[in-house]
Amino acid sequence: MTATLNPEMTVGAFVAERPARSRVFEKLGIDYCCGGKKPLAEVCARRNLRVEDVLQLIEAADAGPEEPAVQPARMTLAELCDHIEQTHHALLRRELPRLAAMIEKVLNAHGQSYPWIQALQQVFHGLADELFSHMMKEEQILFPLVRKLEAGDPSAAPMIAAEHGPIHCMEAEHDSAGDALARMSELTAVYTPPQGACNTFRAMLDGLRELELDLHQHIHKENNILFPRAQEQARALV
Ligand SMILES: [Fe+2]
Ligand SMILES: [Fe+2]
Repeated sequence: MTATLNPEMTVGAFVAERPARSRVFEKLGIDYCCGGKKPLAEVCARRNLRVEDVLQLIEAADAGPEEPAVQPARMTLAELCDHIEQTHHALLRRELPRLAAMIEKVLNAHGQSYPWIQALQQVFHGLADELFSHMMKEEQILFPLVRKLEAGDPSAAPMIAAEHGPIHCMEAEHDSAGDALARMSELTAVYTPPQGACNTFRAMLDGLRELELDLHQHIHKENNILFPRAQEQARALV
């Protein structure tokens, strides 16, 4: 099976082909969403990982049970926009306020013993503000353009094909979200609860870890599947 796994393929393409592979990359700390455009071989070389070992882990993931029903690479662009709004955007609208309240509570109770919670709150608020405005732009500008394009309306093509258009802007905002996630992971020692941490403390860290996982999947679907496919269709029309 290894013969079919090409290390020159990008990490984003690996996950687009089989979503279960994202677990291997999450475990190894390999960025497959914002950094998804780099070939696996290059990523491994930079991280001092043996590419053969990583390919073996991917092979093992491929041999596992088939993926659940969600196969973004097989969706139409309109289906993919709907899916992203209904799952990932809905999760953010639900989780961001809940986590903000939890962080506030933990900061009030334990901020003196753990000064890093203050910094965590700052990074989290910056990320949450950015994400709310980011989702609005996708839902009100970019996704409607993508749906129009797929429905055969060529007037949507120039904006989507533009090198510095809305897609470029969304990708830059994804990079910024990725930086905030990395900073939160660093501040919390990869979401590890301190010894004797209370339940809210643990639930906050657990919720932040879930948020990170979901945002990685979310950004991956946009950066590595939705955007390149929309750009390809648009560029064929301009
Ligand atoms: Fe999104
Ligand atoms: Fe996005």
